[in-house]
Amino acid sequence: MMNLLKGLLAWVDARFPLVSTWKAHLSEYYAPKNFNFWYFFGGLALLVLVIQILSGIFLTMNYKPDALFAFTSVEYIMRDVQWGWLLRYIHSTGASMFFIVIYLHMFRGLMYGSYRKPRELLWIIGMIIYLALMGEAFMGYLLPWGQMSFWGAQVIVNLFSSVPFVGPDLAIMIRGDFVVSDITLNRFFALHVVAIPLVLVLIIVAHLVALHEVGSNNPDGVEIKKHKHNNGVPMDGVAFFPYMVVKDGVAAVAFLMVFSAVVFFAPDMGGYFLEYNNFVPANPMKTPEHIAPVWYFTPYYAILRAVPPMFGSQFPGVVAMGVATVIFFALPWLDRGPVKSIRYRGPIYKTFLAAFVVSFVGLGYLGLMPATPTYTLISRILAVVYFAFFFLMPWYTKIDACKPEPDRVTSK
Ligand code: HEM
Repeated sequence: MMNLLKGLLAWVDARFPLVSTWKAHLSEYYAPKNFNFWYFFGGLALLVLVIQILSGIFLTMNYKPDALFAFTSVEYIMRDVQWGWLLRYIHSTGASMFFIVIYLHMFRGLMYGSYRKPRELLWIIGMIIYLALMGEAFMGYLLPWGQMSFWGAQVIVNLFSSVPFVGPDLAIMIRGDFVVSDITLNRFFALHVVAIPLVLVLIIVAHLVALHEVGSNNPDGVEIKKHKHNNGVPMDGVAFFPYMVVKDGVAAVAFLMVFSAVVFFAPDMGGYFLEYNNFVPANPMKTPEHIAPVWYFTPYYAILRAVPPMFGSQFPGVVAMGVATVIFFALPWLDRGPVKSIRYRGPIYKTFLAAFVVSFVGLGYLGLMPATPTYTLISRILAVVYFAFFFLMPWYTKIDACKPEPDRVTSK
């Protein structure tokens, strides 16, 4: 039996680089030995991607992308399709979990300077994934055709009409109609189910290829490739297979426990993962009193609302929101610090990073609240803090009193 398998492997390997790929990317790919909690989230993002694709395929088998039937087809999935409720709750929980995992993954990058040389392109590819993920979530949210699906899409697509000159035509082009309609639902379905997942998978592969080219950073922010044994193996590295696979496996089990707890005990998560208004069918004649996007978009939504309109146009707010989203692309060039990891940064960077986290979470909360004068004032202050983190970075990272970086990773 063993000989048969060996023979089969040799046959495949003579025609396909199976063993060499396995070695290059798993059994002889070396990851820093000091990976901590924060290094679990890339692998977990991959896990959520698989969960979303699989649950999405089965939902698509029973969902109808038609303005007349979309809402009822979701109800049919929930009530009549065997295990349909589970598939739907897995998919809706997966959407929020994806963003939780991605935000923690990105925050790790900020803590350990993972966007710095030589990982600039890896970071940029990550940012493209993030934007694609936002598009994927936005389009998916229209599909249940509830009140929030409809009005959320209406509000966000209308923002494009504030772009000078081309705005109104642009909004019509996106919707395919003068208002969000059956046509919009159909194209969002096509993009959500086929186009964006395809793009996502391709850029995630590019993300991993770029990662394996430069190798992982680590909590000390030092390059493990600088010190190698005679056989070329980094002194501070451990083989990804089996060691990191087992380590990531433990994280996956813990994550699935949390995931299941949400799916089985609190799938709507108090209205944060599934909004109450979305259990009401879309009604173009009745605007809900309070429209807010899902929590993962609300920091940007709060920035949009914090900027006052100019000459009656919302365009300045739209620009601020856009800049707040894409400014992360510039991080590799904004950061002038002599060290990468927060462990060796000075108090100024630590303070700015803490203030940034407070502003991001605070704006996220305020974006869910009605825009009262007090909340708007707080949003404006937090928006200034948010942008200060980025725009002042070239200055404060340079003057910060950093500690010397070690030559090798510090964990035993
Ligand atoms: C579906 C989305 C994503 C997947 C599946 C994914 C996957 C991964 C994996 C498996 C790793 C290695 C393990 C780890 O370091 O945690 C990684 C590293 C990395 N990712 Fe992502 N990623 C995603 C999105 C992003 C985003 C949105 C960004 C940033 C904007 C990003 C930036 C990075 C960086 C900088 C590293 C290297 C970190 C280091 O070595 O310190 N990734 N990613």
